[in-house]
Amino acid sequence: MGNSTTPTTDAEEQGGAEVPKRRATAESMATRQREISVSEFFTKNRHLLGFDNPAKALLTTVKEAVDNSLDACEEAGILPAILVEIREVVSASDAAKNARKTQGAKEGQGADEAGEGGAKGASDRSPPGGASRFRVIIEDNGPGIVKPQIPKIFAKLLYGSKFHRLKQSRGQQGIGISAAGLYGQLTTGKPMVITSKTGKGRPAFKIHLRIDTKRNQPDVVSEETVEWAGEHGTRVEIELVAAYRGGRTGVAEYLEQTVVANPHMALTFITPKGERSEFPRVTNDLPREAQEIKPHPRGVELGMLHTMLADSPDKSVKQVLVDDFSRISPAVAQEICQRAKVNPKTPADRVLGDDLERLHHALGEVKVMAPPATAVVPIGEELLIEGLKRRFPRADFYVSTTRPPSVYRGNPFVVEAGLAYGGELPLDELAEIMRFANRVPLQYQPKACAISEAVYQTNWRGYELTQSKGSLPQAPLAIAVHLASVWVPFTSEAKEAVAHYDDLMREMKLAIQECGRKLGAHLRARAHLDRELRRRSLFERYIPEVAGAISSILGMAKDAVEKPFYATLPTFVRGLEKDDDGSPPPPPEGGTPAPAAAAPAKPSPKGPGAAKSPPKTPAAAKSPPKVPDAVTSSAKAPALAKPPPKAPAAARPSPKGLGATKTPPKAPAAARPSPKAPPLVKAPVPKTPAKKEPTAPPRPPARTPKKPGDRQMTLVE
Ligand SMILES: Nc1ncnc2c1ncn2[C@@H]1O[C@H](COP(=O)(O)OP(=O)(O)OP(=O)(O)O)[C@@H](O)[C@H]1O
Ligand SMILES: [Mg+2]
Repeated sequence: MGNSTTPTTDAEEQGGAEVPKRRATAESMATRQREISVSEFFTKNRHLLGFDNPAKALLTTVKEAVDNSLDACEEAGILPAILVEIREVVSASDAAKNARKTQGAKEGQGADEAGEGGAKGASDRSPPGGASRFRVIIEDNGPGIVKPQIPKIFAKLLYGSKFHRLKQSRGQQGIGISAAGLYGQLTTGKPMVITSKTGKGRPAFKIHLRIDTKRNQPDVVSEETVEWAGEHGTRVEIELVAAYRGGRTGVAEYLEQTVVANPHMALTFITPKGERSEFPRVTNDLPREAQEIKPHPRGVELGMLHTMLADSPDKSVKQVLVDDFSRISPAVAQEICQRAKVNPKTPADRVLGDDLERLHHALGEVKVMAPPATAVVPIGEELLIEGLKRRFPRADFYVSTTRPPSVYRGNPFVVEAGLAYGGELPLDELAEIMRFANRVPLQYQPKACAISEAVYQTNWRGYELTQSKGSLPQAPLAIAVHLASVWVPFTSEAKEAVAHYDDLMREMKLAIQECGRKLGAHLRARAHLDRELRRRSLFERYIPEVAGAISSILGMAKDAVEKPFYATLPTFVRGLEKDDDGSPPPPPEGGTPAPAAAAPAKPSPKGPGAAKSPPKTPAAAKSPPKVPDAVTSSAKAPALAKPPPKAPAAARPSPKGLGATKTPPKAPAAARPSPKAPPLVKAPVPKTPAKKEPTAPPRPPARTPKKPGDRQMTLVE
């Protein structure tokens, strides 16, 4: 049968048509087939690890080293103190000069991208346009690294302590720092330099290392013993071709965001210009140690179950379920086996085929407890607010929330969100999103990230903010979302964006909504108070005149008439507010208003002050002030009898400003009777204020009142 179906290249059988000449045989092809070392692979595919352009390469290098330092300190129980220094080695202009000088010499040599040809000769190539050469130095006070491990950690890709465990940490792949070293070596030819000391009285070792990319093995260039002032720690130095940039994706931004998510870290940052910034820690409490867990049965995939069973030939299937999964007790294991119709005593490696499938199915069916919350360590509501205050010290209002633990694909996770609002945050710009995964800021690929998606999908208009559909709210707002998990599902090895798992998206949206609700309540309460104060001051202007008129009619002392007016005023105004809203003023819900916001009588001159103080636009100023009924009926003030237009766009102080969205939803109360009005309004001097109407303070722009049912977002919890 084989012969009859074998395709033939014989020209005759093909009807005499010309057939291509064979270029190679299976045997000749076999001579070229060989293993690819992981270092070689990433040398060609360094973009997969976040080294696709000089600016990103610098950020990734700093990030990998800082993440490692923080992980090591936390694992060892040490409060981290980290130094990040970036020194420019060859300036961009020097590099350009070099490039011109060596132009001729390079011609005909088939110039690769700088350094692409490997370490050899790379050091005398010039960095690509716009880039320069930098030396990145990251020093920590962590536990240090024992000498024999240093070469493998820094000069062997896929070598680390975190990959095989289910424990929350910043690193997880075992590739980060060696990839940074590899990039440095490729672009500058310089070895990385590692210095580490593991304890008091022990020597500090300084080791120069290269990666042998063919073998993915370390090459120790030199080693020596040096002085190290501290008791322990590690210093990593990598020279690389890079570009130092500011902005959203720059190193400074990364460090500032890291500070938000790591309030226990003390950081010193020295820029290439020698500017030094200090970020002292805001808490001396280390985050609780994350508990290492076993895989949770919920969401375990068939292949993984097979591997786990096959790896334990000496155990029964029941024993593997109990020992190797989290939350499976002997009773639950028995139930799983029963449902799967598998004998619990069957040797684990013999469960195959249909048995395996039924077992996998049963794992998803039985009731098991959620994974232990101790496996994930969120930042915590208070510390997240502290972190936000560290980054935005002059915001008006801070709020945060930490969701209860949840599970995706068997991995426990917690989502937290925090908002900083108002104050000196920019009024006319889109809100800023800070994305964090296990306390690490994510700066690239926002569009590909589930966190940004959750922010975009939130209806911020329901929280009194301006938002175009599917976009970010336009408000003086910073939004932080943190995903803490034993395994963060990144969309690539560069760890830039979180994958869109439904369970993650749901929790992210709920966390954002919780914060949004509190912000909305705060803004409504503040608008309410502002309105009340504006009304009070309006009436206060007329009290002396009214009191004067009454005192002259009744022959009483003016003071004696004024006093009860002033005493009744607050209650009276509150009564008017109730009439307008049909409800008492809402108390500010949750959140941490900054002192300025807590004292609404003194609106901040900047930012959300626009929401706090009466709008000053001409359109708003034309709107009549709210006055008592008797006044509105005055023929001398016809404008007052006419209710102001309902929420015309023009009445908004600024289409972009906060006032536009946060002004109170008021119907024109002037035309309505006020049943609860105290005697104050009944005083027989109503026309006086009406004459003064043009000079009266402007009332806030009107807006269609919102009923509770008008909220566009329904929360599902
Ligand atoms: N500063 C340090 N102090 C102590 N140990 C360190 C330090 N830096 C790295 N290590 C150790 O080296 C290992 C390898 O680090 P590397 O950054 O390559 O991988 P990782 O952090 O495990 O995962 P990822 O690739 O996701 O960063 C770490 O797992 C850790 O055990
Ligand atoms: Mg790492």
